[in-house]
Amino acid sequence: MNTYNSHSVDIDIGSPEHMSQCDISLPHAWYPVAKSRAIKRGQKQTLHFMEREWLLFRTQQGQVGTVARHCSHMGGDLNQGQVDRDCIRCPVHGWRFDHQGQCQSQLKHPFKQQAQLASLDTAEYAGVIYVFTLPQAMYPLPHLPFDQRCHFSRVRKLKLPVHFLLASMNSFDVAHYDYVHHRKITEKPDIYSHDKHHLGIELKAQVLQKSWHDKLMSWLGFDQVDIRIDCWGSSYLQMFNHQAQMGAIISVMPIDHQNSEIYLTAYDCKTSDKGLFRPFKSIKLELSRRITTAFLMSDVPIARGLRPVEGVLIPGQDDEVKQFWSYYKKLPKTTIYHEN
Ligand code: FES
Ligand SMILES: [Fe+2]
Repeated sequence: MNTYNSHSVDIDIGSPEHMSQCDISLPHAWYPVAKSRAIKRGQKQTLHFMEREWLLFRTQQGQVGTVARHCSHMGGDLNQGQVDRDCIRCPVHGWRFDHQGQCQSQLKHPFKQQAQLASLDTAEYAGVIYVFTLPQAMYPLPHLPFDQRCHFSRVRKLKLPVHFLLASMNSFDVAHYDYVHHRKITEKPDIYSHDKHHLGIELKAQVLQKSWHDKLMSWLGFDQVDIRIDCWGSSYLQMFNHQAQMGAIISVMPIDHQNSEIYLTAYDCKTSDKGLFRPFKSIKLELSRRITTAFLMSDVPIARGLRPVEGVLIPGQDDEVKQFWSYYKKLPKTTIYHEN
């Protein structure tokens, strides 16, 4: 169960003003909450997020939605209710709420607008369901630009003892690629941003073949890697390897300041593989998912207990991290909901 709350959000970004601001906030962003296959039509699941209880459900038509767990009438537990066509029905007096929390019918009373339930914008992509921190997202859940020709792997969900900023901050920490991952950066990385929610980096690196996954990459013909990483809201990353025409989507749900849930989906968009038999494509995707997971896992021992701190950044060496912090500080943040 997620227990992220005002006491556990602990992001030291170097100044007392930001400490007090960040102690009670999360970036407004998309956060992964479940694998799509875990919630079939008519099923539901409770969710603790931003100090509040929610109910995630899938309508009979297949739409996913997230509403406050307790009914706005007299607090009935909707988790004890039933999905009824496109709504969740309260077990106490039978009011029906749609996936956006709108009350669609009240059995014995005239319809009342104030019966609206709190809700979170909910979307799914590549096998994962995400919630935004608001009823209406500030930006759509990013899809891959070429997703019509992509094949996606099954989703890997990992519970890791790391701060939720590990994946995004780490991606921009160019100096650690050599030290931790044995990748020699061969050119100055390029950083770009589409808007205030987004930060991207282009990296060119040589694989130094130290680990089993590096050896496997070399065997597959990728001694040199040319990677693009796009990050939204510090919680959702798309990685793309230009040579392999493959990549991964990685998203992170904070649990507390030392634990996170990470969802990883590998994808392949190589058109020249069209003739490959389906089993070979699946094997290739599975290998890619394992290589990406192994790459990520090399960060876990060093990131266990890590508290992200802006610290002493060295010009020329830590420029990308500096840009990441500047991006992170400017991300719009939540204030924590309180149960009433
Ligand atoms: S408590 Fe939910 S309908 Fe009355
Ligand atoms: Fe790393």
